[in-house]
Amino acid sequence: MSNNKVIQTSYQIPKTTKSLEYKALSNCVKSLGLAKIQPHIFICADQTIANCCSKRASLESWEYLKKRLQEFKLPKLQESHPICVFKTKANCLQVYCSRPIMVVYRDGVWYRQANPEVIEQLVQEHSIGNKVIEKYAFLTHPLPETSLVSCEHLIEA
Ligand code: FES
Repeated sequence: MSNNKVIQTSYQIPKTTKSLEYKALSNCVKSLGLAKIQPHIFICADQTIANCCSKRASLESWEYLKKRLQEFKLPKLQESHPICVFKTKANCLQVYCSRPIMVVYRDGVWYRQANPEVIEQLVQEHSIGNKVIEKYAFLTHPLPETSLVSCEHLIEA
């Protein structure tokens, strides 16, 4: 399912959006390495209404994920590792059971029971090794190989 090749992603911010917004968005794409993100990890955490686990447990998982990605220096592009790993607290992913729920795109792998122990495996095996942790994965729904982001709505704004 997963492979180690870096996916080429195109992005377009229409130049007709000649405003500061265009510059700001372009800078963000470059400085954050948005076009190089792979994978992007979402986890239900800090929920408005805690459904699948307690808010405390979800925040423990979130903090662990943040800490380990920092320790591996994965949020930043590096010559030795030309991808970056993004993470996002997703409030509730609407699964409502099997505490906390985590989904990893672009592979589209949904994990259950994402406690610190599972997150450790995820960071080492999935984020770095590109290997799905079968024991905790309950759905795989990958995104297409490439995507083109169009910001046409910015022109109308
Ligand atoms: S709170 Fe975890 S899926 Fe909703």
